[in-house]
Amino acid sequence: MTDLFSPYALKGETLRNRIAVSPMCQYMARDGMVNDWHSVHYPTLARGGSGLVVVEATAVSPEGRITPGCLGLWNDAQAEAFRPLVHAIRDAGAVPGIQIAHAGRKASANRPWEGDDHIAADDPRGWETIAPSAIAFGASLPKVPRAMTMADITRVRQDFVAAAVRARDVGFGWLMLHFAHGYLGQSFLSPHSNQRDDNYGGSLENRARFLVETLRDVRTVWPEDRPLSARLGMIEFDGQDEQTLHDAIAVAKVFRESGLDFLDVSIGFSTPTAKIPWSPAFMAPVAQRVRRETGLPVATSWYLGAAPAIDGLVREEKIDLAMIGRPFLENPHWPYAAARALGREDAAWILPAPYAHWLARYRSA
Ligand SMILES: Cc1cc2nc3c(=O)[nH]c(=O)nc-3n(C[C@H](O)[C@H](O)[C@H](O)COP(=O)(O)O)c2cc1C
Repeated sequence: MTDLFSPYALKGETLRNRIAVSPMCQYMARDGMVNDWHSVHYPTLARGGSGLVVVEATAVSPEGRITPGCLGLWNDAQAEAFRPLVHAIRDAGAVPGIQIAHAGRKASANRPWEGDDHIAADDPRGWETIAPSAIAFGASLPKVPRAMTMADITRVRQDFVAAAVRARDVGFGWLMLHFAHGYLGQSFLSPHSNQRDDNYGGSLENRARFLVETLRDVRTVWPEDRPLSARLGMIEFDGQDEQTLHDAIAVAKVFRESGLDFLDVSIGFSTPTAKIPWSPAFMAPVAQRVRRETGLPVATSWYLGAAPAIDGLVREEKIDLAMIGRPFLENPHWPYAAARALGREDAAWILPAPYAHWLARYRSA
């Protein structure tokens, strides 16, 4: 039977287990460059025993950063700085993945612990934001974006392709397109943010066009033997959930036909008035339905709970991978703790030998 510690093979990559480090912005970069923070943070999480480590939302262009501290992949120097990090994650036994992103109307923001709001209009650290329509998100993100021209749409698609090429060339084994959380891809899909009257707005097919075209473009450069995934906000909790989910599943089927290998089921975050029913593993039923109706392998995240519950989600084939976020910030060796919680006698051997050798004895004493 498949459980949390069963290997997972997809295309040419095999994850040692079903535990993935969910992408989590660190907001610690300058000029989009990897630095000592990232060089310690990511390999540490890989050493903890996860099968996949997805590096945080990495901007495809400077204006696509959420904050001035976000990582980027819009130039070759940034790509080269990733190379040792990719190697270190692989060396620690995990598949190195990266999420490429454009923050759209949620860009030009302060770091979460410095306000989590838009940088003030008169602050030189801020920049012009772009989005499908000139509609602000609202609440703490009041800045009105500039509606993208056709030239902008073409250029951003090319930026995604260029970032994918750089990610490919430095050795990332798993690519995730960020089409969730109210950022640019999601904001094309959602009527909350897309009021265009051209080919990129209106009908579901039109609202999905930017995402599908970007995916198809990226697939042409991303190697066939490496998994191409997307994180899609498939539900908004805005009172229209059955319709939104129905539409998102239709889009996911087009993604599948367009070469998507794996879907990470997440939340839209397209409106500040959403009423999200935070509770343990509340996204699991959504993921299960998406898995069943699209035929795509899926992951989900958000308060997945304690290890036995997550193990159950995998055993019951509700999800293929568990995307674990904040528990990894609490304990970088979360997979080891999970294995112990599940009574695995070989738990120590999830860690690298210099730790495992001693812990195996320590724990059996
Ligand atoms: C500090 C932090 C940064 C995050 N950054 C990203 C990101 O870069 N991309 C993304 O898709 N989700 C991001 N998320 C969402 C996480 O990937 C994950 O979906 C979420 O934390 C729920 O999982 P959890 O309950 O296990 O933490 C972030 C979450 C946190 C806490």
